[in-house]
Amino acid sequence: MQEQEVRVEALLSEMTLAEKIGQMCQIHVGTLGWPQGEDRIRRGQAGSVLTVYGAAKINQLQRIAVEESRLGIPLIVGNDVIHGYRTIFPIPLAESCTWDPGLVEEAARIAAEEASADGTGWTFAPMVDVCRDPRWGRIAEGSGEDPFLGEAMARARVHGFETGDLASGRKLVSCPKHFAAYGAAESGKDYNTVDISERTLRDLYLPPFRAAFDEGAPTVMSAFNEIAGIPASANGFLLHTVLRREWGFRGVVLSDWNAIAELIPHGCAANLKEAAEKSVLAGVDMDMVSDAYHLHLADLVNEGRVPLSVVDQSVRRVLRLKLGMGLFERPYVDESLAGQVILRPAYRQKALEVTQKSMVLLKNSGGLLPLARDLERIALIGPLADDHHHVLGCWYRIGRDQDAESVLDGLRAVLPSTTEVIHVPGCDLEGRERPDLEGAARAARAAGLAVLVVGEGEHMSGEAHSRAYLGLPGHQQALAEAVHATGVPVVAVLMSGRPLVIPWMAEHVPAILQAWHGGIRTGRAVADILTGATNPSAKLTASWPRTEGQIPVYYAHKNTGRPATGAGTVQFDKPHWSIYIDEENEPLFPFGYGLSYTRFEYRALAVETAQVGLDGTLIVSAAIANTGDRPGDEIVQLYVRDRVGSVTRPVKELKGFQRVSLAPGEERQVRFEVPVQRLGFHGLAMEYAVEPGDFSVWVGPNAAEGLEGAFAVIG
Ligand code: GLC
Repeated sequence: MQEQEVRVEALLSEMTLAEKIGQMCQIHVGTLGWPQGEDRIRRGQAGSVLTVYGAAKINQLQRIAVEESRLGIPLIVGNDVIHGYRTIFPIPLAESCTWDPGLVEEAARIAAEEASADGTGWTFAPMVDVCRDPRWGRIAEGSGEDPFLGEAMARARVHGFETGDLASGRKLVSCPKHFAAYGAAESGKDYNTVDISERTLRDLYLPPFRAAFDEGAPTVMSAFNEIAGIPASANGFLLHTVLRREWGFRGVVLSDWNAIAELIPHGCAANLKEAAEKSVLAGVDMDMVSDAYHLHLADLVNEGRVPLSVVDQSVRRVLRLKLGMGLFERPYVDESLAGQVILRPAYRQKALEVTQKSMVLLKNSGGLLPLARDLERIALIGPLADDHHHVLGCWYRIGRDQDAESVLDGLRAVLPSTTEVIHVPGCDLEGRERPDLEGAARAARAAGLAVLVVGEGEHMSGEAHSRAYLGLPGHQQALAEAVHATGVPVVAVLMSGRPLVIPWMAEHVPAILQAWHGGIRTGRAVADILTGATNPSAKLTASWPRTEGQIPVYYAHKNTGRPATGAGTVQFDKPHWSIYIDEENEPLFPFGYGLSYTRFEYRALAVETAQVGLDGTLIVSAAIANTGDRPGDEIVQLYVRDRVGSVTRPVKELKGFQRVSLAPGEERQVRFEVPVQRLGFHGLAMEYAVEPGDFSVWVGPNAAEGLEGAFAVIG
């Protein structure tokens, strides 16, 4: 038996039942009260704490665990390090729009360096929930609507977090969440019912989790939501059959906050004791703050309702995790380290790069952007124009406003000092105050050019912040129309945690930049893009609906028996197709869409493997040319369609992407090699398999366009 297992068994053999159960409890000292929390730790009744920040405080609790409890088992300290620790990066949805896993990994590594230096050993990230519903506030935390891109981002973030050579000499373990299908909440309402088929669960929502575990993630967080009647945190099919038996996952399952106790309002546990029984038997190893295990698990074991072997198995997993992190050897963190690591200039610079590559140019008619550098005057209008808080995004946690640059800061940093910037907020975010539309219009007229910075506050997305209306909150639409009515050219900079519904703006405003909540470097990144210092390259990873009525609207939809052919407006003359009589079928902006200041042309698609075996590799290439006048990056995408299957198949599925940097006039061949085994799905027998037959393939700039070819998989 390897050394670690020897240590685990030796520890286990010394532990009382109460101490074993203690390792299965994660407590929040903020809720319990600091003295009560310390007492639980001293008694060996807590194996983990969460939401404690700062090396000194963490060491204080760790000393109690190591030096005052009977067995001295160290705590594992968990925090939500979702998109940065103190160097706050763009929200994960924005980061995914870089389509650059290497860059996203670098951001995760920086977060790991800072968090680990400050005592955190476990991050409740990456959030890998696929989401096709922008009403859901937590779409901000994920990587959008596509599982293939979601897998790539999950791997990148796990690898970045789990890097082995942190300055602290310790590890930061990752925790993909929320297992599973939390992003499928009905009506986009957080915590709401999820009722999906096993096939959709397996083909759409599970792949990013599998990718995270393949990358070595040693823990996972079970979700709040039910799936087809069984809450995820008491779901044996999910936590035993899929996670343990099919995937061989040996790590720790942590429940989400109070999720075990929520089995009671879910209506599948009559009381906390029954909730504890259902969760532990389903496979939840550690209870986040509900105290169900703390209060009832010993009785459940003594009454024979929960075998001691189940408890022992969970405790072994927790001890293995702690041993693997080196916590027994290095339980404390150097309290002087954080000051040397946090907000390093190199980290701020990297954050700028990520932010620049996350912002999506949605419209630029007439080439209004980039702005001339020698502008005499510019009106900067909107409630987010000089904002230092909301740019931090929905999971900023200990990020600080003073670390952030506003758009005003950014423009002042890049524009010549001779350019006058007239800043007028024009209205507040929520519409609580009377707007100053005339003041805004006056500024626009005086300047002859307006940059309008509008959108959502960070508190309008994220957990428990779903929206039924996805337009501009408060009086911001009126502000946009008032500024537009002056007739001066308007550039809109949108900030949000989700796709917004902006049909009026898309029609009337000539230039639109989606800046998301871009983290501490938002302002400089916006300024660099508006002035052309940076050529935007980002592309959407979630479709933008024309109206809430279209939701869910996503590219990988099924064809149905009555497919609507082609885009187009109201279709009264086609009443018997899968269409609306009052809205187009297509989204306003499709998955994979984003503009550049240059132009790219796709040429010469070549399907090198017209026929390919089940164990073969699909090889497709195309030439991409930069036909514009400035260098630029293009994210080239490869999609396939399985024309006929044992079950219905999406009209398109992303199966490859590559970023290419091209000088003006340069043409390059981009070649994709896709293992045919990646083209599978769960067919009639609910087994993953690739089915021989005809496929279409596209290489293009987004999900709505591209060069089309065909190939066949032969059995
Ligand atoms: C929250 C979230 C989860 C987070 C946890 C701890 O409710 O659902 O994502 O990690 O509680 O803060």
